[in-house]
Amino acid sequence: MKPEVVTIGLGYIGLPTSALIASHGTNVLGVDINQKIVDKINQGKIHIVEPDLDQIVSKAVSNGFFKASTAPISAGVYLIVVPTPFKGNHEPDISFVEAATKGVIPLLKKGDLYIIESTSPIGTTEKMQKLIYSLRPELEGHLHIAYCPERVLPGNVMHELVENDRVIGGVDEVSTQKAIAFYAKYVKGELHGTNARTAEMCKLVENSSRDVQIAFANELSLICDKADINVWELINLANKHPRVNILQPGCGVGGHCIAVDPYFIVNDYPMESKIIGTAREVNNYKSFWCAEKIQNEKLQFELKHGRKPKTALMGLAFKPNIDDLRESPAKYIAQKVLQNSNNEEHFIVEPNIDSHSVYKLTDYKEAINKADIVVFLVAHSEFKTLKISQNKNVLDFCGILK
Ligand SMILES: NC(=O)c1ccc[n+]([C@@H]2O[C@H](COP(=O)([O-])OP(=O)(O)OC[C@H]3O[C@@H](n4cnc5c(N)ncnc54)[C@H](O)[C@@H]3O)[C@@H](O)[C@H]2O)c1
Repeated sequence: MKPEVVTIGLGYIGLPTSALIASHGTNVLGVDINQKIVDKINQGKIHIVEPDLDQIVSKAVSNGFFKASTAPISAGVYLIVVPTPFKGNHEPDISFVEAATKGVIPLLKKGDLYIIESTSPIGTTEKMQKLIYSLRPELEGHLHIAYCPERVLPGNVMHELVENDRVIGGVDEVSTQKAIAFYAKYVKGELHGTNARTAEMCKLVENSSRDVQIAFANELSLICDKADINVWELINLANKHPRVNILQPGCGVGGHCIAVDPYFIVNDYPMESKIIGTAREVNNYKSFWCAEKIQNEKLQFELKHGRKPKTALMGLAFKPNIDDLRESPAKYIAQKVLQNSNNEEHFIVEPNIDSHSVYKLTDYKEAINKADIVVFLVAHSEFKTLKISQNKNVLDFCGILK
C-alpha cells in the first residue's frame, strides 16, 4: 500500500483519527513503536475501549485502506499524535513529539503537510519547524507545517471527531489553508484558521478554563464546610441567577487532560499565570483536604465508640461512570487514607473495574452494608440509588446525596 497519510501514534486519538481518514477511502499507514499494537491493528482488532471503533478499524483494514507498522514510509501528510506527558516537576515532556518528528524528517519532500495533534506547549510547532529545516535545509519554505489540537470526549470519539469544530494553526498562512483543506475531507464541524501558537494555546486554555471553574466550586466547598452551609444547595441557588453558572465541586480534578494541560502554561509563564497556577493548587489541595477529613472522621468514631471504624471508599476513577484512573484524585485519597491507616478495615469500591493491581476491590453494596463510615468520592450512577441506613457516618465529597 502506498500511503497518502501517515499517522504517528496509534493510541486513544491516533487510532480513531487514522480509522476515520481510512474510512473515507484514503490510504493510511498508522505507525506505533509498540509492536503488539501494530500486530493487533493489522488483524483488524483494537487495543483500546471506544464504541464503534472496532468495526471501523476492522473494515478499513480488510478493505486495504488502513495498515499499521512500526516504521513510517513516504506519504504526503504526516500527523503526529504521540503522548505529551509532564515530567516530575510538571515540566512538559515533548520528547515523544521530537522522536516522532525525527522519524519522518528523512521522508519529507517538497509540498508535504506535517501536522502536530498532540497537546503541546506554546511554540512546539515552531520548534519542530526549526528541527526539520536544520536537518533538511533544502526544504525550507517548501513544507506546510501546522498544529491542530484534539478535543474529543473519550466514549464519544467517533462522533466528535467528525462533528466538533477544529482550531487549525499553521506556521504561515499557506500551511493553515493546506491543513484546513486536509481536515475538510473528514470533519463536518467548522474549521477555524489561526497561527500555530494560538492553536497550541487554545487547547491549553480550554482545559485550564475548566480547571479554574472547578477550582472555584472546590474553593466554595471548603468555605461552606467551615461556614456550616450546604455547598450543593448554595450553588443550586446561586445558579438561579440568569448569568451565573457555577460548576459542581468534587474530591479534586483528575484525568490526563484537565489535571495536566494547565501546567504547560504555568511552567512557561509562571509570573503571568497566577489564576491558572492557583487553580491547580486549589484542586490538588481539595484532594488532600478530603483525605484529612476522612482521617478526622475515623478518629472521632473511635473516640465515640471505643473501637476502630470500618470505612468504605466509594469510587477510584477520575470522573463518574468510567474505568479510567489516570491522575485520579479519588485514587490519591484512597492511597493517603490507607497510608495513614492503623490496621483498620477499609473497603475500596470501583464498580467500573473488575480488579486492581494494588487495591483489593469490594462490591459496592457489600461495602455499604459493612462500613461504619461511607465516603463518596466519585458520583457513579450505581451509588445514586443506594439506601444508606441512618447509623452510618457519611462523607459526601461529590454530591451524591444532594
Ligand atoms: N485521549 C484523549 O482523550 C485526548 C484528548 C485530547 C488530546 N489528547 C492528546 O493527544 C495526544 C495523544 O494522546 P493519546 O491519548 O492518544 O495517547 P496514547 O498514550 O493513548 O497513545 C499514544 C501512542 O503513541 C505511541 N508512541 C509513542 N511514541 C511514539 C513514537 N515515537 N513513534 C510512534 N508511536 C509512538 C505509543 O506507543 C502510544 O500507543 C496527547 O498529546 C494527548 O494529550 C488526548
